[in-house]
Amino acid sequence: MKKAKRMESLSSGIFNEMEERKRKVESKGVKVINLGVGSPDLPPAAHIIDALSNSVKNPLNYSYSLVGVSNLYLAVADWYNKRFNVELDPGSEVLALMGSQDGLAHLALAYIDPGDVALVPDPGYPIYGFSILMAQGEIRPMPLLAKNRFLPDLSRLSEKDAKKAKMMWLNYPNNPTAAIADSKFFENVVEFAREYDILVCHDVAYAELAYDGYKPISFLETPGAKEVGIEFYSLSKTYNMAGCRIGFAVGNREVLAMLSLIKSNIDYGVFYAVQEAAIAALNGPQTCVDATAGTYQRRRDVLVDGLGEIGWKIPKPNASMFIWAPLPPGYVSSAALTTDLLEKAGVIVIPGEAFGKQGEGYVRIALVKDESVLSEVVRRVRENFRFI
Ligand SMILES: Cc1ncc(COP(=O)(O)O)c(C=O)c1O
Repeated sequence: MKKAKRMESLSSGIFNEMEERKRKVESKGVKVINLGVGSPDLPPAAHIIDALSNSVKNPLNYSYSLVGVSNLYLAVADWYNKRFNVELDPGSEVLALMGSQDGLAHLALAYIDPGDVALVPDPGYPIYGFSILMAQGEIRPMPLLAKNRFLPDLSRLSEKDAKKAKMMWLNYPNNPTAAIADSKFFENVVEFAREYDILVCHDVAYAELAYDGYKPISFLETPGAKEVGIEFYSLSKTYNMAGCRIGFAVGNREVLAMLSLIKSNIDYGVFYAVQEAAIAALNGPQTCVDATAGTYQRRRDVLVDGLGEIGWKIPKPNASMFIWAPLPPGYVSSAALTTDLLEKAGVIVIPGEAFGKQGEGYVRIALVKDESVLSEVVRRVRENFRFI
């Protein structure tokens, strides 16, 4: 069969590859610890599960939901106001999604024609680039470098690329680098987007996983942001609802109308019961969110402090569920370190270059196991590696 050219730019993915390699190592009797995929291992709070299960029992909830229930839109607007002090019109500035990935994957279909240019972070969460390729657009990578605190240096983008670009993807707190953005950076982004007429798409999936008292900001807090862009929010990490597919996009109403039009031709909305669970999450007590962040902070400390003591010095991130670890002494390639960690210590991490060329020199470690397992990771690394 003659498959589409775009399939050539699609690999089966690093996670499948690591799964395959894990099976081989496990066949030798090693119990592998998987810190690869960023899928939360914690459960949602009881009041969220209750809302879901009550709603599932209502036979009226099984029709197509189409655009979403108004109470969800009110809950999102209210939550954004309380959390970020950002005013949203629930009727036109909020759009429910089947997980934020749904919006991240489909938005480019509304803005990118074949050959159009989009600015995409390198390293970056893979769907940003793939969404552009699916629309047959062209990617201009924006390098995220340690010397710039993993923020793109907009002044270094060529005038030609800036003029050609129609879209820009951003994500802070960042996956995979765990970097954070400040309001000054977002102000520059708004100015740049206005000057070159670029749609800014900010993904704030990790807004609530933040440590040591730090509170991530929304792009929409920036004056003028709503004129140039939208923001994607996910309930997956904040409320541990990753398999219960729901997220939303907020911001510029024209852009949301375009995304809604695309989606109305693709899906028929989020299951009502999942929307009820989201309403319970957003309107309910937020102590569960603090507890989740506290858990990740303790995990971060166990891992980063433990590895530091044996010579692998890693900066502690302020946010996200990831450690972006520079290679320890003795290593020059993230692929080699990934292989050694799996084969010598039975630990899966993701090589940085899986997220883009600039990811070389790092591995991404997801904090998706409890503290005792992370202590075991440190123990295995101590026993099998000498960092000199
Ligand atoms: C940066 C980022 N954005 C979006 C997502 C997808 O979130 P959702 O479950 O809402 O589709 C992920 C998932 O890992 C992510 O890391």
